[in-house]
Amino acid sequence: MGGRDLVRSVKAVGFVGAAQGLRTVRAAWRRRRADAVGLPARGAERARVPGQVREATPEPGGGVLRFSRSELRITVAVNGAVFWGWDGAGPEPSYALAGRCPEPDPRAVLEPDKDGGWRVVAERVTVVVSRNGAVEVRTPGGVTLRRDLPPRWWEPVEGGPARWMQRSEVASDARFFGLGGRSSGPRLRDGVYRLWNTDQGRAFVPGDDPLYITMPVQLVVADAGTHLVFHDTSWDGTVTLREGGEGAGSGHDRAGACEVRMDGGPLRCWVMLGAPARVLLAWASLTGAPALPPAWALGHHHARWGFGSAQEVRRIVAGYRERGLPLDAVHLDIDHYDAHQVFTVDQERFPGLPALAEELRREGIRLVSIVDPAVKAEAGNEVYDSGVAHDAFVRDGSRQPVYGVVWPGEVVYPDFTHARVRKWWGGLYEERLRQGFSGFWHDMNEPTSFAAFGEMTLPRSARHDLEGRGGDHREAHNVYALCMAKAGYEGLRELVPRQRPLLFSRSGWVGMQRYGGSWSGDVATGWPGLRASLSLVMGLGLCGVPYSGPDVGGFDGSPSAELYLRWFQLGSYLPLFRTHASLRAGRREPWEFGAEVLEHARVALLERRRLLPYFVTLAHLARRTGAPYVRPVWWSSPEDRSLRDCEDAFLLGDCLLVAPVLDPGADRRAVQLPRGRWYDIATEQAYEGPAQVLVDAPLSRIPVLARAGAVIPTCGTDGGLELEVWAPAPGRTGAGLVVQDAGDGWEEPGVERYLARWEGGRVAVEREGKGGEEPPHPVRVRGLGGR
Ligand code: NOJ
Repeated sequence: MGGRDLVRSVKAVGFVGAAQGLRTVRAAWRRRRADAVGLPARGAERARVPGQVREATPEPGGGVLRFSRSELRITVAVNGAVFWGWDGAGPEPSYALAGRCPEPDPRAVLEPDKDGGWRVVAERVTVVVSRNGAVEVRTPGGVTLRRDLPPRWWEPVEGGPARWMQRSEVASDARFFGLGGRSSGPRLRDGVYRLWNTDQGRAFVPGDDPLYITMPVQLVVADAGTHLVFHDTSWDGTVTLREGGEGAGSGHDRAGACEVRMDGGPLRCWVMLGAPARVLLAWASLTGAPALPPAWALGHHHARWGFGSAQEVRRIVAGYRERGLPLDAVHLDIDHYDAHQVFTVDQERFPGLPALAEELRREGIRLVSIVDPAVKAEAGNEVYDSGVAHDAFVRDGSRQPVYGVVWPGEVVYPDFTHARVRKWWGGLYEERLRQGFSGFWHDMNEPTSFAAFGEMTLPRSARHDLEGRGGDHREAHNVYALCMAKAGYEGLRELVPRQRPLLFSRSGWVGMQRYGGSWSGDVATGWPGLRASLSLVMGLGLCGVPYSGPDVGGFDGSPSAELYLRWFQLGSYLPLFRTHASLRAGRREPWEFGAEVLEHARVALLERRRLLPYFVTLAHLARRTGAPYVRPVWWSSPEDRSLRDCEDAFLLGDCLLVAPVLDPGADRRAVQLPRGRWYDIATEQAYEGPAQVLVDAPLSRIPVLARAGAVIPTCGTDGGLELEVWAPAPGRTGAGLVVQDAGDGWEEPGVERYLARWEGGRVAVEREGKGGEEPPHPVRVRGLGGR
């Protein structure tokens, strides 16, 4: 047992008592033994490379190349994405794909290339394969974006899954993003990133890796173009990144490099290229449109592990009400369960939960419930009994149940990789709905099993259905939470068909956006944690998961008033705006940090409310286009190298640039502006980009800049929609989109587009496609002084 392990078990004892501490020791031994028996050592291995190409067979969208020791299938899909798979791997089955694999593009052709190689030429991409199996992705203009060297496999002589390794080169100026939710970034520095969803068992800081959501998805941004590459394999693995640069003294640029190593699973990947917006569109068409949250979920949420009672919930809600602070949702953590058991309620401390929910509902506040996957293994627990009857729980190779340890003690785990189990689990949300909950917060689904030492998850030998194919936890681990989200989402769609489910999950994998979003997990309280919160949201957005946000104030400890406020201000511009903290942490209510913080937090809350129509619009646009609400500042100008390295600001949609304060003691900060004119929305002062400018950042607000010409849907003082229009730069025009919806339900609203232009000395605004018609909403033009 290492020092960290010891800390871990002591911590577990601290939280839940000595008996639980002992359980975690037992569980760790049990896990080790299970794998010793259930997973034989790999033994001797044989290495293999593809060898020389022998023959080529055209197919729709590309073709198959036969090498002496492997074969490669390349298909360009109609959405422009390229698929290739070695050793006969096709795109399916896949947990990542949204539905059926996109059709091949019949116009793509396979033709011979020089030196005995082959190439597939399509409208937006050319894929060139050398005779020994190196694969290059080129733009239509012939520029190479990525070069994969021939892959290498290691096959156990005794049989079993082959490990593989794929090395690639990218441009020397390329920057890497993505890989799921990482604690530092969003630009991923040189290092090794593991692909294994992990609960670190303590609050994390930048540099802790891996975290809860890992994805083999990289977005690579370079002068020559942007591309996304996805290695569709859920097994444990690593990605080693090394940025390129100028070779010391050689005068030559050193290429950027990436090496993916996997413990098993198919070697297959998808690549899409183009402008970032185009790449994310293709990505969403492949892996699924982001679920649309109900409008209330775009407001402010207050969570807490340890409200402890219904009275305390009422006290907090009254605190918001009495101070005139907007509040849209309250989240109940595991302390409202009966002895920490999922789908139960502690009737003593939370009596009459449906009545409380109703009471809150009348004030416009929704209740959100935590949902943990692990079920207390005890006869008499209804969920356990029903799960046993449905044969729902994960077993080992001898068909014995696999036990773990979580909050309720000894637990078992539903096998969400089985359609029948998902259906059963989805039905259980009926109990939550009866209790009055409107939203769901999936936790501990890496899945976590407390262990005094070793990994805090299920044994790798644990068996899973994997949609009837059968397999073990090595393959199922990373998709466990994704399948849990599918179960919850589909259950809710059946139970409350007219509502849009609000579901967000700590762990997940590629495609999780189809069912909902995520949150940061246990980000450590401290300035580094504040920074990590932003990295996570941006990184996940670039992997196709647009709805997420941190625990405002950090999960553990007690933030200073300044840190709390800066976190609150940042959170108020992120899709999921939620204060949350651990059982033992200090308070997180906006009024607990003194009168000044309260006033500034109020401003942030009211501004969030005012921007709600903009957030709703961004949610709809994310669903239709895959574009995240929160985007790196290079989003529209990836060719600007200085923007590529900017990690302390973000674009909120097309209209706003948010520059949070991430350091203590700041009252001004430098902001890297993309091209064009930008207005500080507080002072209306105009700045011209590209430039680095110094802007005021008093404690009362963080800098937010509006793009000249932006048309932003806001909530006017009378509660109706109001268009906030920022004066276009001289000689320029502006535009903006508005999607209004009923707040919930499935009716498909239209997209309204507004145009702004100078007309003499005034800014005229009209609705596009309506023959010069004035907008049906009041218009407020700002930034006129900046002319
Ligand atoms: C871990 C989660 O990350 C955290 O948000 C939650 O409060 C605790 N589990 C207790 O449920």
